Amino acid sequence: MTQARADAFGRLAFLAKAGYISLRRAKLRRDVASVGTEYSAGWRQYEHHLEQSATLDQWLKIPGVDDAPHYCNVEARLRFESFDSATFYRAQLARALRTHFPQARSITEYGSGLGRNLLVLKREQPELDVYGYELCEPGVQIGRRAARKFGLEVQYAPLDFVNAAPSDFKFPETDVAFTMFALEQLPRGSDVAMRNILAHVRLGTVHIEPVPENYPLTYRGLVGRLDHWKADYLRGFERIVGALPLADIRREVLRTSHNPLMFPTLYVLRKAAVDPARPERVPALVAR
Ligand SMILES: C[S@@+](CC[C@H](N)C(=O)[O-])C[C@H]1O[C@@H](n2cnc3c(N)ncnc32)[C@H](O)[C@@H]1O
Repeated sequence: MTQARADAFGRLAFLAKAGYISLRRAKLRRDVASVGTEYSAGWRQYEHHLEQSATLDQWLKIPGVDDAPHYCNVEARLRFESFDSATFYRAQLARALRTHFPQARSITEYGSGLGRNLLVLKREQPELDVYGYELCEPGVQIGRRAARKFGLEVQYAPLDFVNAAPSDFKFPETDVAFTMFALEQLPRGSDVAMRNILAHVRLGTVHIEPVPENYPLTYRGLVGRLDHWKADYLRGFERIVGALPLADIRREVLRTSHNPLMFPTLYVLRKAAVDPARPERVPALVAR
């Protein structure tokens, strides 16, 4: 068999298996406690990688972890390769910030995980004030350690951006904020999360999140919707965004993803214009 045929056969087998697994897998129920347990354990495993990383570039692309070949979605084509999706998403974020918020001088990430996105932003724009909120303590600690190790001034703090009280938001209001695969973890509460985020930002927000309403009506798009529902990921985000008091909503469905069943949407949300004489805030909500 030629290599091309073997690759095509491998892709077909992957697609058939992905559909079967999505159909058969049990429906999860995701909540803040289960997400906290899952990610705390996951992020703890990176302590060792941080120790082993001599340079920031090594920390951003951990050999054997971030460069391992896997099935992914590249320009809507199913590929098996060592695709650096984190760099791809960071480039999309940077493009959105440059295009829509070129005047931004400060930024907060909500659900910053290990904090690596923010290290990249600070390295590329040293004049930017950069903050990260994260649910899981190990993520916060690793973020702080990495910032110290690589000499970048980024601040991280623990925060549950759904259930936090207004006084828990320790960082100053920033010009912009973003999420990257963090709202994804919220089948319930993303409306509260969005209002909390908007209450602490001046200009607007950027989000890169899987929103199944925007997936294509293709085999992979449909299996992706089923898989997303079974995994109990973000729900009803289009409706939630539509109900927010925003001056402008831009969206772009990305055709590239680390997950071959995912077609993330890039959102750029601009807050309603503020009258400097009567600065108006979007009120923070507490969880229902
Ligand atoms: C898939 S990871 C993405 C991490 C990071 N944004 C990135 O791009 O590498 C999702 C992160 O969101 C965090 N998260 C989920 N729910 C959260 C909440 N309610 N408040 C704060 N962080 C949350 C998780 O703990 C996890 O670190």
